[in-house]
Amino acid sequence: MEQSLVIIKPDGTIRRAVGARVLKALMERGYHVQAFKEMNVSDELAKKHYAIHSEKSFFPWLVQFITSARVLAMVLEADSVIDGVREALGATFVQKASPESLRGKYGTWAGVNIAHASDSPETAVTEIELWKTEGGLQISNQAEAEAKQYINRYSSNDFNNTLEIRETVKKAIEEGNTSQNVLLTLQKLYGMDAEGVPESEVAALAKAVFDFIIEEVEKK
Ligand code: RTP
Ligand code: MG
Repeated sequence: MEQSLVIIKPDGTIRRAVGARVLKALMERGYHVQAFKEMNVSDELAKKHYAIHSEKSFFPWLVQFITSARVLAMVLEADSVIDGVREALGATFVQKASPESLRGKYGTWAGVNIAHASDSPETAVTEIELWKTEGGLQISNQAEAEAKQYINRYSSNDFNNTLEIRETVKKAIEEGNTSQNVLLTLQKLYGMDAEGVPESEVAALAKAVFDFIIEEVEKK
């Protein structure tokens, strides 16, 4: 039996129904939830989690994004769960992920891509250990019930504005539009189904996505 560390990233958790649907889709594949925690990620944990990318140009942005607002950290267990979750998520970049995959369905653009999943048995062990010791993630026989509660609580709302968000980001990059209006639009769109989420978190996620747009425009 394998375990994988799966994190629903801020773009998946802030939009409640999206997070619930992603979780539901993973559970419907037969993955058992062994640990479940909605939490905000510290800078330190984010940097350690993505340490392998620390030399890459996108690293500071990646840390900003993953710490911008709450995530859902989980340990999922099943045979072949590591490859299985990655297959369900689809390609890293949203525009390259197939439309049937979870990133293709719910991702915003590029690396604003809904979820993280361990990529090998070795990284799964290291990541699970890190999130237990530094993220307070605990293996618990209540985890599966908590995940089901989360789905029941948030998935009845049929809300999904992914395409509108995607279009906003895509168009801003194409047009080189880095005006404050884009930031405000993102804030409004991400906040539309953010039950119980402080406005500051919605704003921080919108800002992370906006900063990605600025970097893309500057590259051109
Ligand atoms: P993850 O680690 O989050 O499960 O994603 P992954 O294995 O599919 O992709 P990886 O190469 O490990 O990259 C980690 C995350 O960094 C962001 N990223 N941005 N060039 C870029 O702008 C860029 N490249 C990667 C994404 O959020 C990606 O998931
Ligand atoms: Mg990775």
